[in-house]
Amino acid sequence: MHNRIYNFSAGPAVLPEGVLEEAQKDLLSLKGLGMSVMEISHRCKAADEIFATTDANLRRLLRLGDNYKILWLGGGASQQFSMVPMNLLRGEGRSADYILTGSWGEKAIKEAKKEGTARAIWTGKAENFVRVPKPEELNFDPKAVYVHYTSNETIQGVQFEAEPDAGGIPLVCDASSDILSRPIDASKYGLIYAGAQKNMGPAGLTVVIIREDLLPLCGENLPSMLSYRVHAENNSVYNTPPVFAIYILMLVTRWLIEIIGGLEPMAAINKRKSQLLYDAIDSSGGFYRGHSDPSCRSAMNVTWRLPSEDLEKEFVAEAKKYSMDGLKGHRSVGGIRASIYNAMPEKGVETLRDFMKDFASKKG
Ligand SMILES: Cc1ncc(COP(=O)(O)O)c(C=O)c1O
Repeated sequence: MHNRIYNFSAGPAVLPEGVLEEAQKDLLSLKGLGMSVMEISHRCKAADEIFATTDANLRRLLRLGDNYKILWLGGGASQQFSMVPMNLLRGEGRSADYILTGSWGEKAIKEAKKEGTARAIWTGKAENFVRVPKPEELNFDPKAVYVHYTSNETIQGVQFEAEPDAGGIPLVCDASSDILSRPIDASKYGLIYAGAQKNMGPAGLTVVIIREDLLPLCGENLPSMLSYRVHAENNSVYNTPPVFAIYILMLVTRWLIEIIGGLEPMAAINKRKSQLLYDAIDSSGGFYRGHSDPSCRSAMNVTWRLPSEDLEKEFVAEAKKYSMDGLKGHRSVGGIRASIYNAMPEKGVETLRDFMKDFASKKG
């Protein structure tokens, strides 16, 4: 019997139990190779198969056209804050539009400004990042080379319901905390990037999906390791990619396809799970106060406050006694955050919901 708890951390985060068990089974020797997946060369046939299967699974789940390249990189999503503008924004007369709905978008534009002209066309900062913009609030520059946005702001718990309509300007999306949580319209994107450590696998892998027609924008003089073009031309083995993390992503995508049945059912499960917590917030008579506007509530990171910081501390400490961890809100905003990514079982969310009701009735 294992002694796993319910891990509500924002990332690294919970992984499907079946995936961990399969990885454990394979750990000493992969498919009769006599070597662990952590010991094989990234240029051997077994590694090729892992990369190809993971690539095919991602394409199938996200319905990507053949005109997209999937890159296996390192450096985290944070490195993409720089790589995106280094590759796409450097050059005469280029500019990009950024939509800022929370802390990660702010970090992204800060790096972009070091590389070129990056314009914040909308920011929710004055309202404390509680919502995403309405379509009429967005004035895109038709000449922008891309529009950057964060599909789910992990810290604030604010999520776009669908892709913003940028009128054909390629969207560049930081999808770190909601990739693979629901279907997307892939054709709207020029580039999608995400750190793996929330919905995809362990830390150390960053997935970048880039539309091939953007590759010629990447300058020749970039350091090779920071050039999308170099990684694309070398099928992500210009250097050693994080083989183990890609292997786990292969297992996670297989779990999504074979056990969950794809991203539509995954989205329905995620909606159901998050609704349990939002209902608990809304029916608490004001004891719990949700951070985000109800129209933009995240299905991945549910954020709320209690009447005092002391009660918030008590909530987190008390929840630990019931095998629930990782509920403390991000240090920059405080409060409580329950990250309920794909792999968080419904039972875990029900346990938290019951605890919330109980805590409110005792302390409210
Ligand atoms: C939306 C978003 N973007 C970027 C990051 C930074 O990711 P990394 O730690 O992989 O650099 C995070 C991490 O939590 C995130 O949630």
